[in-house]
Amino acid sequence: MATYSLLISLVIYVMAFSINLSHADPRADLVKQTCGKVRVQNVSNYFKYYSSITDYMQDEIYRNKFAFKDTGEPPDRLYVLAQCMDDLTNDECALCFAQISTLIPSCFPSTGGRVYFDGCFIRAENYSFYREALAPEDTKRCSGILNKGQEFSVAVKELLSKMLLKAPSFRGFASKHETSNGISAYGMANCWKILDRDLCSICLSEAVASALSCIPSTEARVLNAGCFLRYSDASFANDSNGEHSKEEVFSYITYIMGVVLICVIAIGIGVCVGKLTYRRKIRLKQSKETEDLLLEERVQYMQFKYATLDTATESFSETNRGYMAPEYIAKGRLTEKVDVYSFGVLVIEMITGVQNNKYQSDKTYETLVTCAWKHFQSNTVQEIIDTSMTIDQDAEEIERVVQIGLLCTQESPNLRPTTTEVVQMLRKKDVELSSPSKPPFTDELMELHYLGSLDQQHPSTFGL
Ligand SMILES: *[C@@H]1O[C@H](CO)[C@@H](O)[C@H](O)[C@H]1NC(C)=O
Ligand SMILES: *[C@@H]1O[C@H](CO)[C@@H](O)[C@H](O)[C@H]1NC(C)=O
Ligand SMILES: *[C@@H]1O[C@H](CO)[C@@H](O)[C@H](O)[C@H]1NC(C)=O
Ligand SMILES: *[C@@H]1O[C@H](CO)[C@@H](O)[C@H](O)[C@H]1NC(C)=O
Repeated sequence: MATYSLLISLVIYVMAFSINLSHADPRADLVKQTCGKVRVQNVSNYFKYYSSITDYMQDEIYRNKFAFKDTGEPPDRLYVLAQCMDDLTNDECALCFAQISTLIPSCFPSTGGRVYFDGCFIRAENYSFYREALAPEDTKRCSGILNKGQEFSVAVKELLSKMLLKAPSFRGFASKHETSNGISAYGMANCWKILDRDLCSICLSEAVASALSCIPSTEARVLNAGCFLRYSDASFANDSNGEHSKEEVFSYITYIMGVVLICVIAIGIGVCVGKLTYRRKIRLKQSKETEDLLLEERVQYMQFKYATLDTATESFSETNRGYMAPEYIAKGRLTEKVDVYSFGVLVIEMITGVQNNKYQSDKTYETLVTCAWKHFQSNTVQEIIDTSMTIDQDAEEIERVVQIGLLCTQESPNLRPTTTEVVQMLRKKDVELSSPSKPPFTDELMELHYLGSLDQQHPSTFGL
């Protein structure tokens, strides 16, 4: 699982790196700053107004990449408008605004000024200029080398006319590139959002005309009252937010699909491996549990029988060996759980010495009971008595105990004596004992019963 999470992290890391999310370029390069020629009446008020306006604008510009606000009393009422180029992210825009807004106060005590960055624009005046598309101070800046040749000029002209057509209808923004015979030109046009479509068109028509006059310069920026236009021989705008060429869209989709595919495969492998491991664990656990259960039952059963006898005879102590004194039962050493059948088996086992061999199998004691019954029938009980038993034991008493044992192991539970009766039989030698009927598993029937007992997994409930 550690390897799996590592793989996922790697995929996310590679994704983040190739998309270059952390990169923020606010394009905060100063293009031009102009200040007005008329002076305000009370400059200290003007500074105050500006500070409160820019405070308000910070949030607004982060949300909308555009803000305008005015405050104060004429003739010193202050009007401010700021906007970012549409391809900037909100973070980039906020960064750009944070820098550009510090430049306006350098124009004071003039009534205002304009600052153009490549990424954003700000203007302040003591009158409402918001809907101005063009103004006498509008200007252009042509730069760059002049040896790109005719093909570049063709590309730029094509680019400018396309942007002029598109931008007014697309929220005042267009970012494009155009290639002519392998020579590319990149361009961006952006109207301030406060202008309607017609005013934007007016502003950009003028801007395109200015830009055309820059050709064959490889760089041109037009700085109008209501719009900004730029072309270049190098890519500068984030056109992932603008219009993409078919190839760009295709490669982007291919890239996304590739990443998704890798993720799906990685997740698939992870799930499969996880499932297999889990299943194997469960299987191992289950089989082990079953084994444990069987073993536990078996051990419990054997311990039950052996421990019972052990308790009843005080660990086969020398004095008790081979001698099933009534006291053992009477003293209550045989617990309630011991049924009469089990008791009978124990008695026979003890007397015949099978106990010393422990239980090789369930069949041993069944065979045994069937065997102290056959011998009982033919009056040869003496032959099966454990030879290590103390000889001085009354043979008659041992036979009597065997008989009690056989009575307890009779096939029909109804014929078996109760525990109390067994105690009576053991305690009082004069109690008449009935003749035991056959045990549950004689001859061929034995096999069947034996199989049955295996199914029940608990031979002590046998026949009860
Ligand atoms: C992200 O892109 C900028 C330029 O677009 C580049 O300078 C920078 O090294 C890139 N960063 C990473 C981590 O690729
Ligand atoms: C500017 O206005 C403030 C308050 O409106 C006033 O206190 C201050 O004297 C004025 N300064 C000038 C030079 O008029
Ligand atoms: C702007 O300030 C100048 C100089 O104080 C003033 O003459 C002009 O009337 C002001 N404009 C407005 C619209 O108040
Ligand atoms: C480009 O614009 C998109 C959409 O606004 C933005 O998600 C992305 O981060 C931008 N990339 C750069 C390098 O500014």
